[in-house]
Amino acid sequence: MIKILVIHGPNLDLLGEREPNVYGKDTLEGINSLLQKEAKKNDIELKTFQSNSEGDIVNCLGDNRKWAKGIIINPAAYTHTSVAIRDAVKALNIPTVEVHLSNIYAREEFRHKSLIAPVAVATISGFGKQSYVLALYGLLSLIKTL
Ligand code: DQA
Repeated sequence: MIKILVIHGPNLDLLGEREPNVYGKDTLEGINSLLQKEAKKNDIELKTFQSNSEGDIVNCLGDNRKWAKGIIINPAAYTHTSVAIRDAVKALNIPTVEVHLSNIYAREEFRHKSLIAPVAVATISGFGKQSYVLALYGLLSLIKTL
């Protein structure tokens, strides 16, 4: 079974209530269960994690370094600020896909810069919850070639 870790950053626990015009009406629970359904179909073991704290996200990455064969991360606001998360992703050397619900390049200028993108294998931004599903399939086909 291929093991994939999904990390959701700050304020994504509020999905469903938070700016639904930008992030959609789905809850984080709904997105996680959609991903679990896709994982089951493809013989993937999926672990999901959400935190509002940068340190907890760095710890989660480190704690799963021997477990995960691939990582999907929506670093949320930390995308634009966190050297610590970028360094952790780089240190792990596990294929990582950066995901965003919204198209960060079509929004405010401060969202145009991602510190994570240069250390990720790919970025998917703007497809709402489908960004995560596309990341899962992309990562799966990549892992199968390794
Ligand atoms: C986000 C985009 C970020 O700029 C923002 O801070 C978020 C969510 C997205 O999924 O579109 O919290 O990562």
